Amino acid sequence: MRLSTLLVWATTALTVTSAQSVRGIQDLVKRRLPHHVDCFSFSLVNATQPYEQINDQYTVSTASNGTVLVEGNSLSALASGLHRYLTDVAHVDIYWFIGSRLHLAPARLPMLSAPLEGASIVPWRYHFNTVTFSYTSAFWTWEDWESQLDWMALRGVNLPLAWVGQEKILVEVFREIGLTDDEILTYLSGPAFQAWNRFGNIQGSWEGDLPFSWIDAQFELQKRIVKRMVELGMTPVLPSFTGFVPRGIERVFPDAMVVNGSRWNDFPTTYTNVTFLEPTDSRFAQLQKSFITKQTAAYGNVSSIYTLDQYNENDPYSGDPDYLRNITYNTWKSLKDADPAAIWLMQGWLFYSNSDFWTDTRVEAFLSGVEEDQDMLILDLFSESAPQWQRTKSYYGKPWIWCQLHDYGGNMGLYGQVENITVNPIEALSNSSSLVGFGLTMEGQEGNEIVYDLLLDQAWSKTPINTKDYFRDWVSSRYAGSKSIPEETYTAWDILRTTVYNNTNLTSATAVTKSIFELSPNISGLVNRSGHHPTTINYPQAALIQSWNLLYDATKAEPSLWDNQAFLYDMVDVTRQALANAFVPLYTDFVSTYLSGTKSQDEHTLITKGHKLTSLLSALDSVLSTNKHFSLSTWLSSSRSSASSASASNASSTTADFFSYDARNQITLWGPNGEINDYASKSWGGLVSSYYIPRWSIFIDYLKSTSAVAYNTTALNEKLLDFSLKWQMEESKDVGVKVDLQDVLGRVHAEWKDVFMA
Ligand SMILES: *[C@@H]1O[C@H](CO)[C@@H](O)[C@H](O)[C@H]1NC(C)=O
Ligand SMILES: *[C@@H]1O[C@H](CO)[C@@H](O)[C@H](O)[C@H]1NC(C)=O
Ligand SMILES: *[C@@H]1O[C@H](CO)[C@@H](O)[C@H](O)[C@H]1NC(C)=O
Ligand SMILES: *[C@@H]1O[C@H](CO)[C@@H](O)[C@H](O)[C@H]1NC(C)=O
Ligand SMILES: *[C@@H]1O[C@H](CO)[C@@H](O)[C@H](O)[C@H]1NC(C)=O
Ligand SMILES: *[C@@H]1O[C@H](CO)[C@@H](O)[C@H](O)[C@H]1NC(C)=O
Ligand SMILES: *[C@@H]1O[C@H](CO)[C@@H](O)[C@H](O)[C@H]1NC(C)=O
Ligand SMILES: *[C@@H]1O[C@H](CO)[C@@H](O)[C@H](O)[C@H]1NC(C)=O
Ligand SMILES: *[C@@H]1O[C@H](CO)[C@@H](O)[C@H](O)[C@H]1NC(C)=O
Ligand SMILES: *[C@@H]1O[C@H](CO)[C@@H](O)[C@H](O)[C@H]1NC(C)=O
Ligand SMILES: *[C@@H]1O[C@H](CO)[C@@H](O)[C@H](O)[C@H]1NC(C)=O
Ligand SMILES: *[C@@H]1O[C@H](CO)[C@@H](O)[C@H](O)[C@H]1NC(C)=O
Repeated sequence: MRLSTLLVWATTALTVTSAQSVRGIQDLVKRRLPHHVDCFSFSLVNATQPYEQINDQYTVSTASNGTVLVEGNSLSALASGLHRYLTDVAHVDIYWFIGSRLHLAPARLPMLSAPLEGASIVPWRYHFNTVTFSYTSAFWTWEDWESQLDWMALRGVNLPLAWVGQEKILVEVFREIGLTDDEILTYLSGPAFQAWNRFGNIQGSWEGDLPFSWIDAQFELQKRIVKRMVELGMTPVLPSFTGFVPRGIERVFPDAMVVNGSRWNDFPTTYTNVTFLEPTDSRFAQLQKSFITKQTAAYGNVSSIYTLDQYNENDPYSGDPDYLRNITYNTWKSLKDADPAAIWLMQGWLFYSNSDFWTDTRVEAFLSGVEEDQDMLILDLFSESAPQWQRTKSYYGKPWIWCQLHDYGGNMGLYGQVENITVNPIEALSNSSSLVGFGLTMEGQEGNEIVYDLLLDQAWSKTPINTKDYFRDWVSSRYAGSKSIPEETYTAWDILRTTVYNNTNLTSATAVTKSIFELSPNISGLVNRSGHHPTTINYPQAALIQSWNLLYDATKAEPSLWDNQAFLYDMVDVTRQALANAFVPLYTDFVSTYLSGTKSQDEHTLITKGHKLTSLLSALDSVLSTNKHFSLSTWLSSSRSSASSASASNASSTTADFFSYDARNQITLWGPNGEINDYASKSWGGLVSSYYIPRWSIFIDYLKSTSAVAYNTTALNEKLLDFSLKWQMEESKDVGVKVDLQDVLGRVHAEWKDVFMA
């Protein structure tokens, strides 16, 4: 039953390249293991033809001449087989932030006594949320992309969203119908906010216009990305025309059927209520065809899977089921008209986020407009915590992908649901015949990499992965390059596995946690927030501290860990969490002192306790500042470089200021006046010292000078906003990485003994 459904679907789906060559995988080896190029040999066996792909399979063995022979039925299978050998046998891997550690593989690669065999249990492994392109990769260079794409290829991803640089195509489509450059540029959003512009939540920019030179540069970047994806055996999910247009549409098409989208998160109307050309208007199909034709000309015919979201946190103009069906029917027709093989990929987020609007009747009507089930592919975006596939009866038969969202806004708490991401996708696979893939849809790529790896590996195991063994193996590759890997590191990670990474209480937290010091200071409402920006701490603090001590002690057994980038990253991350958690009782104590005391008698106590808050944050800042991956200046300098890479003229410094503003605004106020304040907050060195500490100081000073009865929320908020607005415009100084972690931790440990006491 299940297999035959899949077959029907898969035989009509498009799978890229005509004459497949293993060159892309060999090139990956050249890039990452230059001294081992001759040690590997790749061979496509029974290769899936385009339109034929079901599941991927590989076999890795040692050939009689000693090379590691990787055989598989697709390029993605070859990359996955290679990865399996590298992690399980050579114990090396490539990671976010840290980069590739594959070159640390032993000079003489271990022989295999028995072949390694693997088979995927789903044909698709998807990667990226639409907003990852703003939270994580907004300012990425080609080198960053190369690293990311190798990471994805090795982990078996074969269906990535390719969402960079589409403004170039859009600009051409808009110019073609007579919109002026001014009308177009005032519609486009800044580099850190493009995702929301692309699906109609926002329009325009609250500081500057995108330079055409940057739009061009992003387009060139996208061409390289798409090409590399194809070489690595991936089917890129390409942009398409959504219907969102500049307001000038009514000038060029006075009779156009347009409506305004809804207001998003209290943004001023100028920046939201985006104009939407109704798919029932014939001009919709015209623009779709123009968009897809231009895009195919630019990238070649590399994929027929198109991403298209029209109602992301943006309710349709009408809830009439007939209207909703007309929307999808005409949108679908426009895609098929432009590409007869088109498959419409849609994020299912709306059905969850706007569930009041999306009643079962409306969901069914909306999905039924796409009359061929296999012409649609739905991302069940938040499957680990808020799956929608059960209530929508597997999207009424449309193929769908089980996705782990895990993180909102690139927030940085240690967090995981190891039970849910191993057990539940397997259960879903046996319960839903239209489930065709597993995927990752994090808003931002942050830490917690192990739980992303875990779900992608689950796509190759019929039974839920045993996490105890998995974590152990993961640590072996993670700390490659050290002379030895002390047992303490394994124990530390095993404790994290059963505590920090095993949240099962979804009432308390459904995603990565946020530290309260990153929130706008307040006497109430900060601690124990639940939901998807939770501030709860869902494990015993003692377990975290025990892991910290084990990691710290491991460096005594193996001092070379202090030179190991992966270890340094983890040590900073665990210390970050320990200090962030320690902030909570200090804050609670400070506020209760304030609320209980009379001003005069408690001023001294308040001063002391307030000082403790800011000095804990200073200690945290000093730890974070040892590592560029936890550093504000890395984000800011990438924004400035992105600006300068695009414009050689003297306009570049204005552009750099604009991009730097955008970068700052996204992680703090998120909007001209804090419309979704602190949504994408970060625990970064330089940000703690220049932003969070001053904010807490304003709060502390205010409480010192104001009795509890006179506490005035409006007055305090004004002071805080005033500070935040000024901070947006500050000049960025590249402070770089200051001192080494070992020194800093020694000092912080001595100063905050109680925090680290196991
Ligand atoms: C390739 O297909 C043939 C014929 O179906 C089969 O006998 C053979 O075992 C397959 N080889 C691999 C490596 O799967
Ligand atoms: C080693 O053997 C493999 C498998 O037979 C073959 O693909 C590869 O070309 C050989 N390598 C060399 C250097 O002969
Ligand atoms: C859409 O918003 C614009 C700008 O605020 C306004 O002028 C226009 O009347 C609105 N259109 C509709 C149909 O509400
Ligand atoms: C913007 O959308 C909101 C609903 O979300 C609506 O009340 C308001 O009238 C809209 N404004 C315009 C100008 O379209
Ligand atoms: C839906 O489309 C049909 C056919 O074009 C049309 O007759 C009908 O009025 C439309 N319904 C709504 C609610 O727009
Ligand atoms: C790409 O080629 C396939 C196979 O011939 C075809 O079905 C598809 O429509 C083409 N895509 C585009 C955008 O023309
Ligand atoms: C799968 O179906 C079984 C039997 O109907 C049910 O007990 C289980 O809860 C379902 N699992 C999921 C994840 O929906
Ligand atoms: C996670 O917690 C649940 C419930 O508390 C428990 O049943 C399960 O064994 C735990 N799993 C791990 C890996 O610790
Ligand atoms: C997994 O997530 C579902 C929500 O989809 C929830 O009902 C269930 O309790 C979770 N299970 C665990 C072990 O966390
Ligand atoms: C889950 O979390 C909620 C809210 O934090 C709490 O009230 C409840 O007791 C927790 N449930 C369990 C089983 O721990
Ligand atoms: C604190 O939170 C309350 C609601 O919880 C909110 O009304 C207020 O504006 C916030 N800010 C300050 C500074 O009190
Ligand atoms: C609170 O502060 C605001 C802004 O400074 C001020 O307008 C208002 O009068 C104050 N409220 C009270 C009750 O003092």
